[in-house]
Amino acid sequence: MRAITRIGAALAGLGVLAGCAVTYPGPNLGSPVSTPDTATPTPTPPNTARPTGAAEEEFVAEGRSPQVMDGDLLGSLLARIETRTTYNGTRVFASWPQFDRSPVDAQISGYFTQAISDFEAIHPAAASGVSAELNLGWQLIGSSPEAVGVVSDGYLFDGADGRSSWRSFWFDPATGAVLGTDELLDHAAALAALRDAAAAHPDVDLGRAGDDPLAAAPMVAFTGQGELIVGFDQCQVMACSHGRVTLTVPAAATAPLLTDEGRRVEDSVVNPVRPDAVTASPTPTPTTTPTPTGKPGGAARKVDCDKVKCVALSFDDGPGPYTRTLLAHLADAKAPATFFLLGQQVETYPKVARAVARAGHEIGVHTWDHRDLTKLSPAQIDRELTSTIRVLRRDAGVNPRYLRPPYGAMDADVHASAKRSGLALVLWNVDTLDWLTRDTDKTVAAAVKRARRGSIILLHDIHPATVKAVPAIIRKLRAKGFTLVTVSTLLGRTKPGVVYSHGR
Ligand code: NI
Repeated sequence: MRAITRIGAALAGLGVLAGCAVTYPGPNLGSPVSTPDTATPTPTPPNTARPTGAAEEEFVAEGRSPQVMDGDLLGSLLARIETRTTYNGTRVFASWPQFDRSPVDAQISGYFTQAISDFEAIHPAAASGVSAELNLGWQLIGSSPEAVGVVSDGYLFDGADGRSSWRSFWFDPATGAVLGTDELLDHAAALAALRDAAAAHPDVDLGRAGDDPLAAAPMVAFTGQGELIVGFDQCQVMACSHGRVTLTVPAAATAPLLTDEGRRVEDSVVNPVRPDAVTASPTPTPTTTPTPTGKPGGAARKVDCDKVKCVALSFDDGPGPYTRTLLAHLADAKAPATFFLLGQQVETYPKVARAVARAGHEIGVHTWDHRDLTKLSPAQIDRELTSTIRVLRRDAGVNPRYLRPPYGAMDADVHASAKRSGLALVLWNVDTLDWLTRDTDKTVAAAVKRARRGSIILLHDIHPATVKAVPAIIRKLRAKGFTLVTVSTLLGRTKPGVVYSHGR
């Protein structure tokens, strides 16, 4: 009953947010990058938790950011990823985790679906002249058998301005019980500490967030050094030009504020471990597919696409929890593929990104967080590309040569930015519509029926139905005489800034 009350309170909070432009979840500005707001050097974080890589001002909050860790740590606790994509007109690109745990699943999916339906009510897809966009991702900010934390990372573009927001969710993985701010902190003492932290920042006006800014704060998290950070959405406590804002309570001052639950949560950040290390799970959980090793997915043999009928399979929006299964299918079939990865996802699944590269597949850039690049300034477009290139180099060890712009949306600024970053633009000429049908048979049929010599086939490995379709797609394409190659084998020489949608 207590848990249900908490969900009700969470949804009521959403309702309040719904009427106010300031509070929409927005895209991910990103990945939490640690940007100290003082001159104090940051201590080295513990081994499993990593500082995030996209240290571009576009992607950070004002102040410290939560410690982000490898999503693989969730192990079998992660039951599935829910996604919502709308690619025509008004654009929605959202994904969120589910754990087969109640009530936390209801709280998380309630938040995301409410944000999407609020957005769609204000910006219907058919609206003319408005190109609104909602971008909602997530990252892991705490992991242990006693506490798990995820943060939503949101960006909303209303046709004129973009706003960023976020929201933390803490829960007990054994029971699924939601751990709200008041379960973690002595509210009165934490509120006083928050006001102290704000006093050091004259530009921060906590009064803008109401009488109880702690209760109004959408994000409560910890750094890897045990500092409490309280996060506010863009425009909530500071001028909108500052983006999202966090206030930090020093580690020594944080300790007295914590309840027993709060200490367990803090420990899940400072000393992250797999939450499924102990078996308290009341529900069966899926098993993890081992990563194929050694055998290059392809690319080993030199293929001449002037002599054989080549096609390229391309997978967008990963890496994610289903990508390893896809890699296993590709390895079984000895088929190479090309992956257009999101920087934000690489940061969440760095080992999976590396596994893609090690399997011999090609990797291209799909931007940091899947924003429509034509709605951004040239400087913002550059940051979307360079930040993603940086994490691909760091985590996957590759130097990408291609950009696939989200939605295929391009203009002269996008071409120019791609050229500056040394990236050719790679689209597709076979759209399987897998994101729409979410149907394995239909995806197989669409890929195979419409493939021609030189085709680039568009697929998305964030959908399990698509991953399941891949063995049949490969088998049937080969039966029709096609040879599967990477995009670079298909296209041969390419020029940065130039658009390609098929090969020879
Ligand atoms: Ni995409």
